[in-house]
Amino acid sequence: MTYVIGKNCVDVMDRACVEECPVDCIYEGGRALYIHPDECVDCGACEPVCPVEAIYYEDDLPADEHGHLADNAAFFFDTLPGREAPLGSPGGAAKLGPVAADAPLVAAMVRQDQP
Ligand code: F3S
Ligand code: F3S
Repeated sequence: MTYVIGKNCVDVMDRACVEECPVDCIYEGGRALYIHPDECVDCGACEPVCPVEAIYYEDDLPADEHGHLADNAAFFFDTLPGREAPLGSPGGAAKLGPVAADAPLVAAMVRQDQP
């Protein structure tokens, strides 16, 4: 099981969640952050600090956000645009740094930070 970052993070990227994660499993993409489903230890520390309530335990995802469960995983296990291989399990977001790409569902979303 894992926590999942959903649509409210897209184009917001507050990053308060990153500071709370004890295992550094919240990774930065181009338009959103993504929780690594295998590295997350389900501690729940990230969920209450997000100012836009973007984070859910996977069983609690609203129906219209179920796609983000697979999309968070796709960020790590699909080959993202502009990269030659999947990220896999980097074992820590800080050492990897921001990735200038997004998983398919987020990449297809209409920008929320422009009029
Ligand atoms: Fe995004 Fe909320 Fe974290 S906006 S970066 S999920 S604190
Ligand atoms: Fe997972 Fe969030 Fe904790 S990503 S490890 S539940 S801080």
